[in-house]
Amino acid sequence: MSEVRGSWGSKLGFILAASGSAIGLGNIVFFSSNAYKYGGGAFYVPYLVALFLIGIPVMILELGAGRFARRSMPNALYQMAGKRAEVAGWFGALNASIITMYYIAILAWILGMWVGSLGALWQASPVEAFGLSSGELSNSMSYFFNMISSQRPLLYVVLIWAANILIIIRGAKSIEAVVKIFVPLMWVMMVVLIIRGVTLPGGIEGILYLFTPDFSVMADVGIWKGAFSQMFFTLSLGFGIMMAYASYLPRKNDDVLSATTISFLNCSFEYIAGLAIFSLLFAFAIAPKASSLSMIFFVVPEGIAEFPVLVGIFGFLFFTLLLMAGLTSSVSLVESVVLSVIDKFDLPRMKVLVGVFLVGLAGSVLFVLPQVVDPGLSDDGTLGFTLVDLFDHWAFGYGLLICGLFELIILGWLHDIDALLVFINESSRVKLGSKFRFLVRYILPLVIVCILVLSAVDEITGGLYGNAMETGGYSGLHFVAFAGWIVFSLGGAVLFTMLKRRDGGGGA
Ligand code: ALA
Repeated sequence: MSEVRGSWGSKLGFILAASGSAIGLGNIVFFSSNAYKYGGGAFYVPYLVALFLIGIPVMILELGAGRFARRSMPNALYQMAGKRAEVAGWFGALNASIITMYYIAILAWILGMWVGSLGALWQASPVEAFGLSSGELSNSMSYFFNMISSQRPLLYVVLIWAANILIIIRGAKSIEAVVKIFVPLMWVMMVVLIIRGVTLPGGIEGILYLFTPDFSVMADVGIWKGAFSQMFFTLSLGFGIMMAYASYLPRKNDDVLSATTISFLNCSFEYIAGLAIFSLLFAFAIAPKASSLSMIFFVVPEGIAEFPVLVGIFGFLFFTLLLMAGLTSSVSLVESVVLSVIDKFDLPRMKVLVGVFLVGLAGSVLFVLPQVVDPGLSDDGTLGFTLVDLFDHWAFGYGLLICGLFELIILGWLHDIDALLVFINESSRVKLGSKFRFLVRYILPLVIVCILVLSAVDEITGGLYGNAMETGGYSGLHFVAFAGWIVFSLGGAVLFTMLKRRDGGGGA
């Protein structure tokens, strides 16, 4: 017997939840580190192209499909185009599950830094597991490496998983209650941090760096792949999240307006986060280290430690902001997986929550493993931190784009795209016509295929992956991560599709 499907209490609740999902670690960590990697302003042009060309259109489609089918991704795609489409949907959901597992591991480390921001983070300490004396690394770096090479993250990961399950315990209703508090607070905290950043002497240089376009690097395929996969990640596309959240919408909703609002809220947050971080980097002449995560774990804290006053308070504020932004995103990731299982097997929510908690926790534990694999700290340090990098390379860098490509093929070709557009147009002020249809059927799949093929060629000839990982000396793990990603996402997708459906066909 089906439980009653919940719904958002208000349109505002939905916009807050969807923008809370979009605004997350991607906005604060990955945007800035990508922008830094590609020379600041150089990233700006591909990023804006990605936003308008692909971000907003794919978000409109995901919202429309979720509202049309009133189902989470694998089940919506099944309902719209049969079993083949369901495999693609489960591939997306399982790829998202891998991201969820390491996303929550990163949040566990952030919780550790948050605890440290109350005192220990600002003091010098020897890095015991790596045999380094205090003074060899900055205070935040030594605190971080001491923390990740200890057992403490195991406790933190349990706490973050428990918080996620608690927030989604009643679906849309309990998510809405939390985002109504967290999302406005995140904006306030970000504004405080940016005011502090740009008023530091030299901070304004960082802003100029971020806003001065550099067209000379546009021929580099890496920057386009970076911008397009960043756009999918930051807008929470290709995960099934927007379909799941839209399945809780009432029959009528202006999807074009919602997609534009959510995308602009997200990208404005991303830019102001970039301003805050770049002003800090320039004010104190700090250069980010190898991993993108170094940005939040030691680069920004190193800057904060240089503040003339209120170091502890700004540090606490920064990690509280990261925790809130990360949680409003991780709950959407977990909810979309939970809803995918509920919709297919018609199981009680509580049972699915327990199952997802146990499997997800086991996966996240893998990513916080404290074994030291890089004693010289030339790169990542521990096994868990290394695995995050390796799985992220496939699940974020490729998985989201592949899922996006599947969605475009399914909605544009296998399902009647005109019927979907008529449905979206019924309740949208801006009407989507033949140009949008052409974009969905031809241009976007072509753009994604080009990016994927060129990236794969670069990969094989030793470009992207080779450069990013060459210092670690753990090449055997590359293969393990690649095989793990394929077996889990693709093998799992076939398996889940084969399992017997118990929802009577997935009708709304
Ligand atoms: N959209 C989420 C983020 O940016 C997943 O972190």
